Amino acid sequence: MLIAPSVLTADFSKLKQEIESIDNADYIHLDIMDGNFVPNLSFGPHIAKTISNETEVPLDTHLMVLDPLKWINTFTIPGTEFITVHYESENFLEAIRLIKEKGIKAGLSIKPATEVEEIIEYLPFVDLVLVMSVEPGFGGQKFMPEAIGKISDLNRIRVEQGLNYLIEVDGGINDETIQQVRAVGADIAVVGSYLFNQKNRKKEIKELKEL
Ligand code: DX5
Ligand code: ZN
Repeated sequence: MLIAPSVLTADFSKLKQEIESIDNADYIHLDIMDGNFVPNLSFGPHIAKTISNETEVPLDTHLMVLDPLKWINTFTIPGTEFITVHYESENFLEAIRLIKEKGIKAGLSIKPATEVEEIIEYLPFVDLVLVMSVEPGFGGQKFMPEAIGKISDLNRIRVEQGLNYLIEVDGGINDETIQQVRAVGADIAVVGSYLFNQKNRKKEIKELKEL
């Protein structure tokens, strides 16, 4: 399993050390929230660039914003591997097009209330599908088991249609739920509060990878 720690719950008073503490992760997950698409504000391009300058680990940027098309240029930052936009946001398809024009892998995310059927037609155009297993907006929430069926469906569809998007799951992931989502085909797990509540994060990341 690939691990993408979400820095949303990191201690921003010592961001450099926090980023160093997860430097064996596969990606660093940046949760960008605009206070409109979700009822929370997180951080912007200055912090994202600061993180990018502190690490070699590729960035996995999750845009939870009303109109992601407005933000693609801003978040086209060195070291960015994925930029993911929400199906439920405005201009998501144009945003995906622009992300790919920039040579960055494009992700499409669905909230818990959105069914896989609603995004099937877009799957050939994306490199990653991000299944939310919590209502987006905050870290530290409980895993929603409905996500398991969606991951399983997405895994089946990519085999049936010969597609090669990665499946990422985001929200409430810990040492138990990670095994449930891996069993049905998830490739990348976003881990926020579970990881940042641990002392030895490198050791925890290593263990989570092997579960
Ligand atoms: C929620 C974010 C998630 C969250 C994960 O809107 O997209 O990435 O930070 O945090 P945990 O792992 O604590 O649920
Ligand atoms: Zn996220």
